[in-house]
Amino acid sequence: MNAATNGIPGWYYPPANEVLLACDAYHKANNLNGHLGEIGVYHGRSAIPLAVLAGPDEIFLAVDCFENQKVNRDQSGQATRQSAFEATYKRWIGSTENLRVLSGDSQVMTTETYLQAAGGPFRIFSIDGCHTESATRHDLEAVSEAMIQGGFITVDDYTHPSYPGVKPAVDKFLAAHPEWRIFDKRCRLVLSNAHYEIPAEPPHA
Ligand SMILES: C[S@@+](CC[C@H](N)C(=O)[O-])C[C@H]1O[C@@H](n2cnc3c(N)ncnc32)[C@H](O)[C@@H]1O
Repeated sequence: MNAATNGIPGWYYPPANEVLLACDAYHKANNLNGHLGEIGVYHGRSAIPLAVLAGPDEIFLAVDCFENQKVNRDQSGQATRQSAFEATYKRWIGSTENLRVLSGDSQVMTTETYLQAAGGPFRIFSIDGCHTESATRHDLEAVSEAMIQGGFITVDDYTHPSYPGVKPAVDKFLAAHPEWRIFDKRCRLVLSNAHYEIPAEPPHA
């Protein structure tokens, strides 16, 4: 689980695990199933802590433009290779059996792309690809329609000064979709359409 302290390059920090575990515990307690995914897996630093949560019938969907950095419009996280990600995935998860990879520009991907790739809806999805306002909004719209009722979407860099497009994208998305709200913002921003409040003391990683 603790990929961040075991050398995977990237921008994910262990305290975020506690919130992920609380989301996962809510799903398990309520028998809610669904797949897991991330746009912008880079080397896997935030993908692996998500992928370890996958149950036996759950897929982890990895979306990244990988070697095609021409579509990385804001140059966030360069120098990533699909083979390196897959090797990291195998090292941590033990096999790539439940891994599905969409290599390409998330800006041409739709809700249907994600549902088809995984074979059904998602319960937790991380958005950390291109950070411009229009790209973040596109990813949010596409992913949110692919989520179960009771799902969680994490968004990185909500208040990062280098990525000023993320916050307006999220704020406008929330204004347009009142069924989604901010669930937690201690680490990565977490949005949810679940009728659930995080416990005061989330489970520890
Ligand atoms: C900031 S990095 C992700 C970091 C990673 N999630 C972590 O926590 O370590 C951004 C990633 O998004 C990918 N990316 C950027 N633009 C993209 C696009 N338009 N479509 C798909 N992936 C994109 C980049 O290749 C890069 O791997």
